[in-house]
Amino acid sequence: MTCYYYRKAYYRAFWLSPPACAVPDAHEKYSGETRFPLVFQNIHRYAFYAALIISLINTWDAIRAFHSPSGFGFGLGNVILVGNVVLLWAYTLSCHSCRHIVGGRLKHFSQHPLRYRFWTLVSKLNTRHMMLAWTTLGTLALADFYVMAVSAHWFSDLRFIG
Ligand code: FES
Repeated sequence: MTCYYYRKAYYRAFWLSPPACAVPDAHEKYSGETRFPLVFQNIHRYAFYAALIISLINTWDAIRAFHSPSGFGFGLGNVILVGNVVLLWAYTLSCHSCRHIVGGRLKHFSQHPLRYRFWTLVSKLNTRHMMLAWTTLGTLALADFYVMAVSAHWFSDLRFIG
């Protein structure tokens, strides 16, 4: 909900502030994100920290999923879980808060070469944040559905090994 990209999308579509160029605001006064309820958007940095924890948990899940009762196993579920986790990391690390954390509040990049490197990497990902937002939304839903369907025995995981 606090993602900068999603804010842009739903502020225009639902909040109608701003709705579009040359279209009047649906609200009497524009207060930005200084008043209730939009003031809560300012927790975005903490939402980013929560997303880091969620990405770590998903990574652990994806690694654990290679373990089958007979040892190492590999199936379609692994492909879905690993693909989901890779995209989840790409989305999380492309976050504007992440970009600010790694490269913000510096006067001279030349004195912080490592942070500059991270900032350059995150900036490249950041240009694709919108695409990653939508893709990850889709892969999260797909991974959740697949796990739910296999757990409910609607169908079994397609196994390649193990
Ligand atoms: S800006 Fe989209 S997750 Fe941070």
